Amino acid sequence: MDFISTKWIIHLLLCCLFHGVGCNSVEQKIYVKLNDTVPCVRLLNATHQIGCQSSLAGDVGVIHILESEGNLEWVLSTGPSPPYMVILESTLFTRDIMMKLKNGSSRIAGVAVVKPSTNPIEDFSPHTTCPNENTGVYSESYGPTMAHCNTTVWNPKGNGLSYEEFNFPIFSLKDDNGTEFIRQCYLKHNLVVNGSAPGYPLCAMQLSSHMHAVRDTVTCMRRSDTSPFSLNPEVVCDPLGSFNVWGSTKSLNNTAKGHKENETVVIAAARLDSRAFFHGISLGAESGASGFITLLAAAGALANVTRQDHPPRTILYTFFQGETFDYIGSSRMVYDMEKDNFAIDLDNIHSLLEIGQVGLHNISGLWLHSDPVSRRNDSIDQEVKRLIDYFQSVATNLTISLGQPDVSQPLPPASFQRFLRAQSIPGVVLTDHKSHFTNRFLESMYDNAEYLNLTYPPDLSPEEQFNFDTDTARGLTEVATMVARTLYKQAGGADEQLASINADLQTVNHLLYGFLKQTNNSWFRAIVPPEHQRFLGPAPPEYYVGVTFNNTFSNLVRYVLANLTGTAVNISKENCTDQSKFTDDTESTDMYDYMWVSGVTPPNGTEPVPYCVRSTVRLARAQSPAFELQDYHSSNYSTWSESRWKYIGARIFLVAGNDLEMLTLGMGVAVLVTSLLLTYVINSKADFLFSSGREPANATY
Ligand SMILES: *[C@@H]1O[C@H](CO)[C@@H](O)[C@H](O)[C@H]1NC(C)=O
Ligand SMILES: *[C@@H]1O[C@H](CO)[C@@H](O)[C@H](O)[C@H]1NC(C)=O
Ligand SMILES: *[C@@H]1O[C@H](CO)[C@@H](O)[C@H](O)[C@H]1NC(C)=O
Ligand SMILES: *[C@@H]1O[C@H](CO)[C@@H](O)[C@H](O)[C@H]1NC(C)=O
Ligand SMILES: *[C@@H]1O[C@H](CO)[C@@H](O)[C@H](O)[C@H]1NC(C)=O
Ligand SMILES: *[C@@H]1O[C@H](CO)[C@@H](O)[C@H](O)[C@H]1NC(C)=O
Ligand SMILES: *[C@@H]1O[C@H](CO)[C@@H](O)[C@H](O)[C@H]1NC(C)=O
Ligand SMILES: *[C@@H]1O[C@H](CO)[C@@H](O)[C@H](O)[C@H]1NC(C)=O
Ligand SMILES: *[C@@H]1O[C@H](CO)[C@@H](O)[C@H](O)[C@H]1NC(C)=O
Ligand SMILES: *[C@@H]1O[C@H](CO)[C@@H](O)[C@H](O)[C@H]1NC(C)=O
Ligand SMILES: *[C@@H]1O[C@H](CO)[C@@H](O)[C@H](O)[C@H]1NC(C)=O
Ligand SMILES: *[C@@H]1O[C@H](CO)[C@@H](O)[C@H](O)[C@H]1NC(C)=O
Repeated sequence: MDFISTKWIIHLLLCCLFHGVGCNSVEQKIYVKLNDTVPCVRLLNATHQIGCQSSLAGDVGVIHILESEGNLEWVLSTGPSPPYMVILESTLFTRDIMMKLKNGSSRIAGVAVVKPSTNPIEDFSPHTTCPNENTGVYSESYGPTMAHCNTTVWNPKGNGLSYEEFNFPIFSLKDDNGTEFIRQCYLKHNLVVNGSAPGYPLCAMQLSSHMHAVRDTVTCMRRSDTSPFSLNPEVVCDPLGSFNVWGSTKSLNNTAKGHKENETVVIAAARLDSRAFFHGISLGAESGASGFITLLAAAGALANVTRQDHPPRTILYTFFQGETFDYIGSSRMVYDMEKDNFAIDLDNIHSLLEIGQVGLHNISGLWLHSDPVSRRNDSIDQEVKRLIDYFQSVATNLTISLGQPDVSQPLPPASFQRFLRAQSIPGVVLTDHKSHFTNRFLESMYDNAEYLNLTYPPDLSPEEQFNFDTDTARGLTEVATMVARTLYKQAGGADEQLASINADLQTVNHLLYGFLKQTNNSWFRAIVPPEHQRFLGPAPPEYYVGVTFNNTFSNLVRYVLANLTGTAVNISKENCTDQSKFTDDTESTDMYDYMWVSGVTPPNGTEPVPYCVRSTVRLARAQSPAFELQDYHSSNYSTWSESRWKYIGARIFLVAGNDLEMLTLGMGVAVLVTSLLLTYVINSKADFLFSSGREPANATY
């Protein structure tokens, strides 16, 4: 035995003697904690659990970097030192390979996927082919031939990976120094040369992502029951949810809930959230952001004209959260409207116009989708036709190609479907696809700024990039202008005003930069309250809906909408934040929301000058009514919840190997036996050995 391994064993022995069986101080000495990892976590619905988890203490395996699919053999059958921790380049992160790993899971300790710095050429969507299949409007009782995507498969590229369950941990790694460290460790210790297995020590990785909740939402909510009668109350899962954001062109009394006499409202809707296999890296640039950015820009374009010349109908902007998970936000708003728990009810709604995915409009044009079932009613059909005509007439003055798909085609997945479930409302959904989605990367990590060609010259400073005119912004500005003009017409506004309604290119530039590049920019810094500054950072917001209700992303949209549609009012901080001080009814907090925001630094000053913004913008809870009703089996409402966990982490270290471990165990047993013997001998001879030093039994101290 050479000197090094003797030292190694002595070290192991010493640490085992002092730390007991769970000794890992050797690991601690050489382990490297990996930064910038994103785990796949567990979600549950009424009947299933999906996602990933590790064992309680984390799973450890010998690192194997998979170079090609042919290489799978090694980890699945021939490699001599399972279990393996498989490192996948993102091109190998396919359903096929993941399912093979899942089925060979006794030899698989976990998987780490290296996130690439550029998007792949191949299509990739880990979502289902028929998003929100069971919670839309089409069912056995409403357009049965259109239910379950029978007529149109919206996301044919979807491979369903995000809805699989894996019983090992899966993490994503950023392709940077951490990943480089793994590669070096692998090349040095684990590389298979000419098919012969490498010797110990081997480079290993530990992934920890143990999840508390199991089986389904019904089970975990029962376990989480914190009523005084439950025996073992412990919260193990939380309902997915956040806040919807809404605002209106005319202030509506938000204290008086339910039906409002003489009020007709045109709803302009968009979805906020999106997801990916790894929740932490979902951007939804096309699937969510292109739509809500367009609607925000349109709201900004309408702010002036609706203040000066308000049309007969009120335009209500709504931004829904959690739509990706069976329409959480829109189903909640409809539920609140039905229960007289919202500023208006369903009978106040004149029509609805939804902005879906529009970011790829220059590839495939724009399309107006409507619902063939409700259009069988003549009056609804008339209204839909009129709305489409408005769109067409507005589009002729802009460089936009706008079409209508075949009338027999159902609506694509959209929040509008939740309104139609409750009531026949005329409406259209604007998207950039005629039938199936144009988006090749739906609900994946590649649906990002790069996919929308949103790039900036690298030699510009952040502030210059922020103000840089991109083609992406130019395109969306046109779309926003069309949406704004159509909304004004649909609300009954005068044609003479239309030419003056124009979305602002600079605003769209800023929105794209702020929501897809980084939230830390001069505009966002000025329009958020001082205490929100710390949430602005060098990255986009997180688009996964999550479970923390004070979601920073919903708040950010609220501040932006308030800036674009509200007015700065000259009142003190005290009066702005303390709502009881208002005496004038028409300006009271029944009618308006007041926010104290950071403001900009004047040219000759050093500190930003904060001010008060008055707007009609509000947050509304976006939690599935299933949790309100405690109906966790619900088939009408979303039942998605997220498991809780204690610790999530990833680290790599060297493992000593079987021989060393056996030797260590042998030595350990020898030491144990020796010490037992010694204790016995000392004990039995204690009287003799310690007699002179013994204290009297009744000694007091
Ligand atoms: C729960 O999710 C699974 C996996 O996606 C799906 O098969 C099932 O239909 C869902 N259950 C309900 C009640 O929506
Ligand atoms: C699917 O659509 C076809 C034709 O539109 C129809 O014949 C068939 O019955 C439908 N299937 C279901 C399950 O509704
Ligand atoms: C990566 O390593 C290089 C050289 O070792 C270093 O200059 C760079 O700052 C590191 N990057 C990160 C993100 O740690
Ligand atoms: C992770 O971050 C810590 C502290 O910033 C750093 O010391 C460590 O080297 C990083 N780990 C890797 C693998 O880059
Ligand atoms: C708003 O509605 C509440 C409840 O109906 C009422 O008390 C209040 O006076 C209203 N406010 C205004 C400004 O009309
Ligand atoms: C609604 O309109 C009718 C007719 O214009 C008017 O008589 C009535 O007072 C209005 N109601 C409210 C609450 O404004
Ligand atoms: C809105 O109106 C104000 C003054 O009424 C004007 O200064 C501003 O330029 C207008 N904004 C737009 C986008 O037209
Ligand atoms: C289109 O432009 C023409 C000329 O500028 C104008 O007369 C017409 O009203 C515009 N139509 C619409 C729908 O904006
Ligand atoms: C992005 O640019 C490429 C190359 O110029 C082009 O083929 C593609 O259509 C563009 N995509 C979008 C969304 O504009
Ligand atoms: C959300 O609330 C928690 C606890 O109330 C707090 O620790 C956290 O900072 C809040 N986050 C935001 C974004 O306000
Ligand atoms: C919106 O933000 C811009 C830029 O900071 C500012 O000039 C403008 O006054 C703000 N508007 C409102 C209503 O706060
Ligand atoms: C707050 O508003 C009230 C009523 O308008 C006014 O009397 C008071 O002076 C204001 N307070 C401050 C600090 O401006």
